This record gives sequence, C-alpha cells and structure tokens, in this order.
Amino acid sequence: MKKTVHLIAAARPNFMKVAPLWHALTAAPDFKPVLIHTGQHYDPNMSDAIFADLRLPQPDFHLGVGSGSHAEQTGNVMIAYEKIAVEHRPDWLVVVGDVNSTAACAMVAAKLHIPCVHLEAGLRSGDRAMPEEINRLVTDAIADVFWTPSADGDAHLLREGTDPARITMVGNIMLDSFELVRPAIAEANVPQSLGLESGRYGVVTLHRPSNVDGDASLAALVDALVDVQRDLQLVFPVHPRTAKRLVETGLGARLEAAGVKLIEPAPYVRFMSLVVDAAVAITDSGGIQEETTYLGIPCLTLRENTERPVTISQGTNQLVRTDTLKSALIEALAKPAENRPRPENWDGQTAARCVLDLRARSA
Ligand code: UD1
Repeated sequence: MKKTVHLIAAARPNFMKVAPLWHALTAAPDFKPVLIHTGQHYDPNMSDAIFADLRLPQPDFHLGVGSGSHAEQTGNVMIAYEKIAVEHRPDWLVVVGDVNSTAACAMVAAKLHIPCVHLEAGLRSGDRAMPEEINRLVTDAIADVFWTPSADGDAHLLREGTDPARITMVGNIMLDSFELVRPAIAEANVPQSLGLESGRYGVVTLHRPSNVDGDASLAALVDALVDVQRDLQLVFPVHPRTAKRLVETGLGARLEAAGVKLIEPAPYVRFMSLVVDAAVAITDSGGIQEETTYLGIPCLTLRENTERPVTISQGTNQLVRTDTLKSALIEALAKPAENRPRPENWDGQTAARCVLDLRARSA
C-alpha cells in the first residue's frame, strides 16, 4: 500500500517548493502525493501559469479560499482543509514555507493527529511584525518533522527545544524547481522581448505590507527606484497587492514617467528568464534572495532583516534601506563577480533527500 502524502500549495512562492516534491513522490513506488491548492493566490499569473511552468497537474482538491483578512483567510483554510483531512486521512501532510495556509493546515493536522512535515522549517527573521514570522513560529511549534534549508534553521529549532531526531537538513528545494525547468528558462528570451539588454538592467519585486501598504514608505520607495532608473533600466513585475497601491496613490504613473518598465506579475519561467540575465535584483521577496545567491547575481533586499541569513554570509544578498539603495547599487555593480561555493545542499537534489527521509520515517 502506498503512503498518501497531502501537499499543500497556497500562494505563489509555495508552488516552486511543492513541485519538485510532487514529481519525486510521484516517481517513488511507495508514495502517492495528493495536491491540495487552498486558493490563497488565484490570478492566472500568480497560480495556474506557474503550475503549468512547473509541470504540475490540476490539483486533486481546490479549496477556493481566496483573499481576506488574516483571520478570515487562516480560518477559511482550516475549515476547508479539515473536511478533506477527516474524509481522506493522509499518512502524512507536508506544508511548505510561511504563508497563512501553511500554519492553517499544520494546525488542522496537529488536532487530527496526522503527522505533519514542515518543508523550509526553522527560518526566523526575529521580526514578529511580519505575518510570515508568526506563521513560521506556529508551524514549527506543532509540526512533527522539520526539513530545513540551511544550518541556521537547525540551530533555531534546537534552541526552541525541538528533538534533533525530528530535524533533517534537506537543503533548498526552490532550486530543484530552477533545475527542473532550466532549459525552458534559457529559451524564454523574455529580456529581449521587452527590449532589455542582457546584463544591463535590474529586476524589481516589492510586495511586503511593511513596504507597500503605507503611503509614506511606498512614496519613498518609488523615489528611490526613480533615482536608480537614471543609471540602470529597471523592469518591475508588479504583485497585485502593490499594483492596487500604486493605482490608489497615483505613484505608478511616476515610475512609468521615469521609464521603469511596469509589467504584469510573471509566471515562473518568464520571471526567472528576467532574473538570470539581470545585473541586479531589487526585492523584498524571500525566494529571490535565495535564487540570486544560487545564480551569483547581486541582490539588494529592501528589508530590515532576513530569515535567510546564509544569502548574506554565503551569498550575494545585502539588506538595504530606501536611502541606501542607490549607493549600494553602485557598489554592487562595480564589484567583480565572486565565485563562491553555494550553501550546503543547495544543489537541485533536495526533493530526493525529502523522499528518502520520509521513507525512513514511514518505516
Ligand atoms: C502572500 C504571503 C507572503 C508571500 C506572498 C507572495 C501570507 C501572510 N503572505 O502575501 O508571505 O510572500 O503571498 O506573493 O500568507 N491578490 C490578487 N490575486 C491573487 C492573490 C492576491 O489580486 O492571486 C490580491 C488581493 O487583493 C489580496 C492581496 O493581493 O488581498 C494580498 O494577497 P494575500 O494572499 O493576502 O497576501 P500576499 O501579499 O500575496
């Protein structure tokens, strides 16, 4: 009898973490993955197009939860997933990352005594003002098995009293997704189709509430980007949360007038095609800090902290503020590329290690 594994996919950054594991479990003789989309992200470019890029099938279950306040979204995911978990009782639940659906489904499993694995466990920004930090703390307090991407994850969990036997450092699974579709990324030629010159542009993503929700912080960011655009062409795939705010404040017009290329959120292959040829990434995303470290591309992260410190200590990332963005950019572009070894187990083989670990724990 194959062991059934519920895999929860909810929001854009989850899909790159779930896809390699779904493929590896599907190929394994002893597991049957069941793909569950909570519907937290639903725009085609934020969801279906990424599923197609990563060769994921239609989900086995779609909970259709959609947007809402934190309590509404978390509660609605719990109510919807509980019905499926009770009816189909999996052998394992795997939740990934740090979005509201991650903590919601982990809570459902804990109360039903369904063993739960957290993939990307142990990350901490130390900043409880971030909703993701609360989701990480909640999930890691109640999961049964912890798959960490880097040694700092293990250290945080041990400090919080987690049994070391429950922790396995599997590495960074997002990079498995990159390797899975590397040829398609190489062929996509998105920079050319947008009139961008290879190696001579910066790719921007911003969506953190702390950056885009307040009028003053968003205006300061827009000013900083306009200043950068004087020296370096910027392309900015705009997240729906940010798009809404740029319209409400009228600040989008300022970016456009300065020459920043504002485009729709790009699905995975198109987006990575922009990243691989970029001179620099300017972002507040978690995953992009990791992908740029893997690819050796400088990354300027507009945040006060990061839950991914290896991207600074062993990678190409640095934290910047709006008022230091321009000087950091000039410095980063002047620096010759370093050939640094990648963090341990960031090698495109993480999903295989997850399957081996799950098998050992199922015996
Ligand atoms: C969520 C995650 C965040 C992750 C991000 C990636 C939480 C707490 N936050 O933030 O960790 O980095 O996803 O994108 O789980 N919207 C659309 N279409 C969509 C999805 C959202 O228009 O497909 C709009 C809605 O107006 C919604 C808003 O974007 O209210 C925010 O979406 P939400 O899922 O609440 O949070 P994100 O900012 O995307």
